[in-house]
Amino acid sequence: MIDWNSYEKISDKEIKDAFAFSEQMVLKNLEQFTDRFPNAYSVDDFYAPIDNVDWTNGFWTGELWLCYEDVVSQGKTKEAERLRKAAEIQVQSFLKRIENHIEVDHHDMGFLYTPSCVAAYKLTGSETARKAAILAAEQLIKRYHPVGEFIQAWGPMDAKENYRLIIDCLLNLPLLYWATQETGDEKFRTIAEKHIHTAVANVIREDYSTWHTFFFDMKTGAPDHGATCQGYRDGSAWARGQAWGVYGMACAYRYTKREDYIEKFKKVTAYFLEHLPKDLVPYWDLEFGEGSTEPRDSSSALIAVCGMLEMSKYLDKEEAEYYRDIASKILKSVYEHYAVKDLNSSNGLVLHSTYSNHSPYNTCNHYGVDECNIWGDYFYLEALTRMSKDWEQYW
Ligand code: GLY
Repeated sequence: MIDWNSYEKISDKEIKDAFAFSEQMVLKNLEQFTDRFPNAYSVDDFYAPIDNVDWTNGFWTGELWLCYEDVVSQGKTKEAERLRKAAEIQVQSFLKRIENHIEVDHHDMGFLYTPSCVAAYKLTGSETARKAAILAAEQLIKRYHPVGEFIQAWGPMDAKENYRLIIDCLLNLPLLYWATQETGDEKFRTIAEKHIHTAVANVIREDYSTWHTFFFDMKTGAPDHGATCQGYRDGSAWARGQAWGVYGMACAYRYTKREDYIEKFKKVTAYFLEHLPKDLVPYWDLEFGEGSTEPRDSSSALIAVCGMLEMSKYLDKEEAEYYRDIASKILKSVYEHYAVKDLNSSNGLVLHSTYSNHSPYNTCNHYGVDECNIWGDYFYLEALTRMSKDWEQYW
């Protein structure tokens, strides 16, 4: 059991220093990553450049926008201009990607288009970004199955082996709410709401651990069974899946305002927190606890931090303080023990993240293990941003 009173919160100075270092790193990386993007994961702590073809490209553009916000607030116009120009080049790339249907037959339209294009539109009013994000929302709802009432994650839509949702998708749904708000067309919100209800009803187990993926019967839509892809085994709790559940429940409450989701958020979060080791950064699956030699997933810690900070906006003072306090303590541990501190030792921001770790019981590929992962870097900057101001969020 963690004794939270024995941990310190991240200080304002540490937040400032973390931001200052991250901005130097991001600006340095622009030379390599403006027309191209960092890969989803580093190799020996260095990201290689890729084209705009993976589910993860939006996180890098999101990093540019988060740094842009910070340098604007400091009146650093030269840096702001560099970041904005690079991010705008990438927004063009996202428009091209959706218009030309490049690697968009999956559900990750939210991860791709929210931190890149919705962010761009909110910050600069870019019509290119708005157009791209609305096209992405249109693409996402094509994956909705009325039979079962969910958005299918991966693969061809008519295959039994793909008739499932995954917990990560909760973070793809804010794009749909935004699209309804922008266009006035209720179809996006209606589908998001149906998916949320189906996901919440099925991926959360009785003990408030979570399934990574959940299958439905193709003919009747009846819930069938849970299974893992990236977790250690079917019945374990994949750390990042649980973290997507924490942030996902905060978003679910933000958009639906269903009171029962507050309780679910608290329980899913409690499960995550109860399975943290002493340094507050989970192993890649919550099956593993203090003293394990398994790799960590620092990105899960950061996603959960952002989810707790989001949810604290809707809770009473005492409860909000509880989650902000814990979020701040986890963030301090990441800053102290996991964040990159030397501009030449890596081109990422946060070490010891795990993308996809093969086990004897799962079906996933093996890569990005104990490396930087681009969403870990993004959520580090989002957490720092959330700790430093009342953030007008992208999600
Ligand atoms: N959404 C995929 C992952 O978290 O690895």
